[in-house]
Amino acid sequence: MNILVTGGAGYIGSHVVKLLGEQGHTIVVLDNLSKGFREAVLYGKLEVGNTGDRELVSRILRENCIEAVMHFAAHTIVPESVADPLKYYGNNTCNTRNLLECCKDAGVEYFIFSSTAAVYGIPGTAGTVSEESETRPINPYGTSKLMSEIMLRDLCTATGMKYVALRYFNVAGCDPDGRIGQSTPEATLLIKVACEAATGKREKLKIFGTDYPTPDGTGIRDYIHVVDLGTAHLAALDYLHAGGESTVCNCGYGHGFSVREVIDTLNAQLDTPVRVEETDRRAGDPPSLIADTRKIHELMSWQPEYDDLHEIIRSALNWERHARF
Ligand code: UD1
Repeated sequence: MNILVTGGAGYIGSHVVKLLGEQGHTIVVLDNLSKGFREAVLYGKLEVGNTGDRELVSRILRENCIEAVMHFAAHTIVPESVADPLKYYGNNTCNTRNLLECCKDAGVEYFIFSSTAAVYGIPGTAGTVSEESETRPINPYGTSKLMSEIMLRDLCTATGMKYVALRYFNVAGCDPDGRIGQSTPEATLLIKVACEAATGKREKLKIFGTDYPTPDGTGIRDYIHVVDLGTAHLAALDYLHAGGESTVCNCGYGHGFSVREVIDTLNAQLDTPVRVEETDRRAGDPPSLIADTRKIHELMSWQPEYDDLHEIIRSALNWERHARF
């Protein structure tokens, strides 16, 4: 298939480009390289630019006879979205609207959208959310993504374009071959930050809150290996291509680990444990956030291969030690 991947030079997008390339698809990456890396694009052609540039996007769609779009390009830092909401509504929502208009005009058939568990906000006490759970985002990042989901749904109802929105839980880990990885500047995600602390790039790791109503008092999340998240995109495309209806799916493993469990798993791979400081809770963090994953398993033949916290951390640490960019 001819596929446009926006944000294909970024962390998750570049891993998906690698998987698509290995499957023999023809790929065009559109990335403005604000957070992405040219070297991360292992397959296809790279066009440098913005998804909001309608002339550029229309030309790319037309010249390459694009049949499917995978849309990763977005800002993703929650506290930044609180401080600068228009940046998030501009890039994540308005630019998605522009991209969708170009897709409509060009007759693109399939659209895979990078959504997020942040659309759920603070879940109920069980901490597990299904696609039918209420969506009540508590920050502009989550809202900007939810607004895009809604636009996509309505456009697809009107035009017959088919879409899957994948709601990512906590993505972590890196390509097992070590060719690409996560080099996002000013990272905030736990496993990335912990690996930076483990390799001396940070002085210490802060634990945000030790008084949550969880067994060890720290927050629990559903960490999914980036390669499994990548194969979920391939499964979603196959599903649509086989005639599947537009839908929204959670992407996680369906079970969680606490911050302390993550740190213990990391320390087991180190000669010297990481320096840890216990601090107050971070605003807006739910105690527990775990995916109900029944839907993606029922609809798409997705088989995760790396449902193993040790392996997720091993690959992230390997990248942190031998990053190529
Ligand atoms: C992250 C993303 C969010 C995304 C969601 C689901 C951010 C800030 N959040 O949420 O955009 O929608 O995944 O994919 O980018 N923690 C520490 N110390 C740290 C960092 C984190 O204790 O230095 C704790 C947090 O309090 C939380 C857990 O680790 O309990 C995970 O946090 P993090 O990796 O930042 O991800 P989320 O905030 O869950």
